[in-house]
Amino acid sequence: MKSSKVLILLALALVVCVPDAVAKGGAGDLGLLPLPREVELTGGEFCYTPEATLYTPNDTLAHYLADYFEVQNTIGPSTAIMVGINPSLDLPAEGYTIDVRPEGVWVSGVDYGGAFCGVQTLLQLFPPEVYEGAFRSECTIPCLHLTDWPEYSYRGMHFDVARTFSPFEELLRYVDNLSRHKINTLHLHLVDDEGWRIEILSHPELTEVGAWRGGEGNPLHSVYGRWGERYGGYYTQEQMRQLVAYAAVRNIVVVPEIDLPGHSLAIAKAHPEILCPVEKDLTRTAGYDTSNVWCVAREENYALLEDIFAELVEIFPSEYIHIGGDEVQMGSWRKCPHCSALYKAQGYTDYHQLEAHFLNRVVEILGRYGRKPAVWNEAANGGNLTTTARVHGWEAGRKAARSAERGFRTVFMSGPYFYFDMRQSDDEPGHNWAGVVTTQKCYSYRLAEQGFSKAAQANVEGFSGAFWTELLVVHGEQNPHYIDYQLYPRVCALAEVGWTDEPRRQWGDFESRLEGHHLARLESMGIHYRQGEPPQPEGKVVCPKMECRTSLPMRNEGDLAKLSAWANDYGARAKRTCREGDWIEYRFAEPLPMGAVVELTTGYRHVTRGLFPSGVVEVSGDGADFSSAGTLYNGRATLTIDTSTKSIRIRCTTTGNGDPYVFVQQPVVRVEKL
Ligand code: ACM
Ligand code: ZN
Repeated sequence: MKSSKVLILLALALVVCVPDAVAKGGAGDLGLLPLPREVELTGGEFCYTPEATLYTPNDTLAHYLADYFEVQNTIGPSTAIMVGINPSLDLPAEGYTIDVRPEGVWVSGVDYGGAFCGVQTLLQLFPPEVYEGAFRSECTIPCLHLTDWPEYSYRGMHFDVARTFSPFEELLRYVDNLSRHKINTLHLHLVDDEGWRIEILSHPELTEVGAWRGGEGNPLHSVYGRWGERYGGYYTQEQMRQLVAYAAVRNIVVVPEIDLPGHSLAIAKAHPEILCPVEKDLTRTAGYDTSNVWCVAREENYALLEDIFAELVEIFPSEYIHIGGDEVQMGSWRKCPHCSALYKAQGYTDYHQLEAHFLNRVVEILGRYGRKPAVWNEAANGGNLTTTARVHGWEAGRKAARSAERGFRTVFMSGPYFYFDMRQSDDEPGHNWAGVVTTQKCYSYRLAEQGFSKAAQANVEGFSGAFWTELLVVHGEQNPHYIDYQLYPRVCALAEVGWTDEPRRQWGDFESRLEGHHLARLESMGIHYRQGEPPQPEGKVVCPKMECRTSLPMRNEGDLAKLSAWANDYGARAKRTCREGDWIEYRFAEPLPMGAVVELTTGYRHVTRGLFPSGVVEVSGDGADFSSAGTLYNGRATLTIDTSTKSIRIRCTTTGNGDPYVFVQQPVVRVEKL
């Protein structure tokens, strides 16, 4: 066993190593991810032993690194790794160098972020087990000199804790794993139609009403599942302060989002007076009041917002506070006498201008606290949004680029590339309104190819992934690793898109580093990442002659004929929501083969909406006498045919599903392959 060499104090000056034998291009072999700028293998190796210790004069880093190494607060005979901050390094923010020599390892950051990112690269030089903590094994690291800095200053990941509440510990884990990928911003989507998740001391009613959903008589109804029970939660201010501190140690800024003026159903349930005084249209929403847009002309609204932001800025020290601005349903403004009067008085010609008028008032509030606004891209559509806003481009195609063309600082997070709630192949759970988003698709994003001019590219502050959680509520119980599955390895691709300059980003090289090295690291980090396409159920899909019937009035009666002809895999939409007693029946010309497996789906095929929230499945040998064969779970059921079956009927046992419609689907019938 070799013993560690004593590192002399002088070495802290980080004299750049001049290699005798320079081996270039070793980064691929090391599997570093994201790919660093410059790596020179300098020959020889450093031998790490169980006695080796780490020294850093930075207390925060010392505390962080104690989870991984034996940290000592002085330099001594066992010191083998030194981590420091050296502002005189000639590197951009978050830049760092690493020198590995036979006598030890030096990590030096130009600032705290640089040192932290250097530490992440250092960990990747060790075997993956280093992430399991208290690494005390023997290993060797090739001698090298590495210089690195990020291409973009904003490398973010969004997390929607509004649609589905995630426990506080999950937030910490989320941050920890992002930080290992040099992601430096957590965009925390704290409120939306489906939940208000942040304690506001001066307005406890916001969480009393807005943090809970579902169940009999609750003001906020369920949309994506758990119809029968009340569920939810919120974070205390103390928890959010803990999160901010935990993230800061990990070089992550938490940017909170209060989504305004749309997506505000949760707060509107506690304060209906914030909405425009207009007649609600309950027929289109199956009796649910979904009015969710703040009245722009109601002056008291800004006083309530002042109360909220005054507390928010005390919790979150971020330079930017995200104030939403997406998907505003402007119909109520058109009908509101006060909003239309304001619109006219201001000479506006587009309701996006009224939206920016509202947001600019919120910007004034933020300005009083020295903060800047971040917004979703539609907020800039009116042309009158304050230019201090940072715009988050989420829509597809050119829409997300427009703000950068107009001179706004822009974070790019376009759905078809960076929305990690999209599914990763055709046949697995997840949304697909922005298409299938594979790791490769995310990785391959290039600004120039997306039509960003040179000037617009200069306005891109960075990239972010998004994780919206409508579907988390139905996966949580059945699939506790759904967050990991949706995020990894897509976050690995995002990390490199944000960190590594475009010319050096090559998919084949990334893939080999990912598969050859990084997946093993994810495993050691305890991340349940997606391991390729999920296995498909066994058996051969058959389309026996069938007639599909239902008690539901269909939007287009011809759709049922298409379902019967196995010619509509998307589903057919009913004109109204479900009622107790509604039924869907599949009547087969011949009894189904014994042992056939039948998957029954109500609602969308991959997304739990527009369904029968509960129901019973019945089978019949003659189409007249039915007997019970199971119950629906989240609108679905799977039957194995073990009795003569000519007809399968799904009978709804709930009235209302949160949507003004039901989707009727074909069943999927599988038989054993011959
Ligand atoms: C968004 O996805 N509505 C920002
Ligand atoms: Zn109004």
